[in-house]
Amino acid sequence: MTAATKTTPAFSPDQVSVVFVLGGPGAGKGTQCEKLVNDYSFVHLAAGDLLRAEQNREGSEFGELIKNYIKEGLIVPQEITLALLRNAISENVKNNRHKFLIDGFPRKMDQAISFERDIVESKFILFFDCPEDVMLQRLLERGKTSGRSDDNIESIKKRFKTFKDTSMPVIEYFETKSNVVRIRCDKPVDDVYKDVQAAIRDRL
Ligand code: C5P
Ligand code: MG
Repeated sequence: MTAATKTTPAFSPDQVSVVFVLGGPGAGKGTQCEKLVNDYSFVHLAAGDLLRAEQNREGSEFGELIKNYIKEGLIVPQEITLALLRNAISENVKNNRHKFLIDGFPRKMDQAISFERDIVESKFILFFDCPEDVMLQRLLERGKTSGRSDDNIESIKKRFKTFKDTSMPVIEYFETKSNVVRIRCDKPVDDVYKDVQAAIRDRL
């Protein structure tokens, strides 16, 4: 190893604790995260929410790009998402908040590698495993009121494809490190949550 290639993450896992929350679109990541925030002292950072906020921020140079990627169900270039997450984490750390649920990230291998190299190593991955037909119904239902540009059948199909082709390899990668807590989520929200609590009890 040459000295030039060695970089140190911004935080150590003792300082900052990160749980990645992954799963297909409509698997219920956000819903379960909200429940965890109520019961534990987590900060919930959803990569998609950060991107939508950046898209809508007046003067953002990335607004148009993010809008197009989201509509097409594609993964926004990692530099943008990593910068948003790094800022959000730093702001919270300044306010003495050190435990994070990072929802919808990493959705591509490069994001996984960069985040753990530059920001902090994750504790484990909470993976919501859900059949596609269940996710489809949930997204179509949500689309009636969400106002999201990607909760329509054309975008949903593209998001499913991206999940299979680009995001599943991330979960498989963490599985090789035995770092994945897999939760089946084709059942009522409160039943899923009980499984989540039981599964993470020993890991926190
Ligand atoms: O997680 P959520 O469904 O809110 O993400 C919406 C969209 O935001 C994704 O389909 C993708 O276009 C973009 N996104 C991304 N990279 C991430 C998370 C979300 O490009 N890590
Ligand atoms: Mg979400």
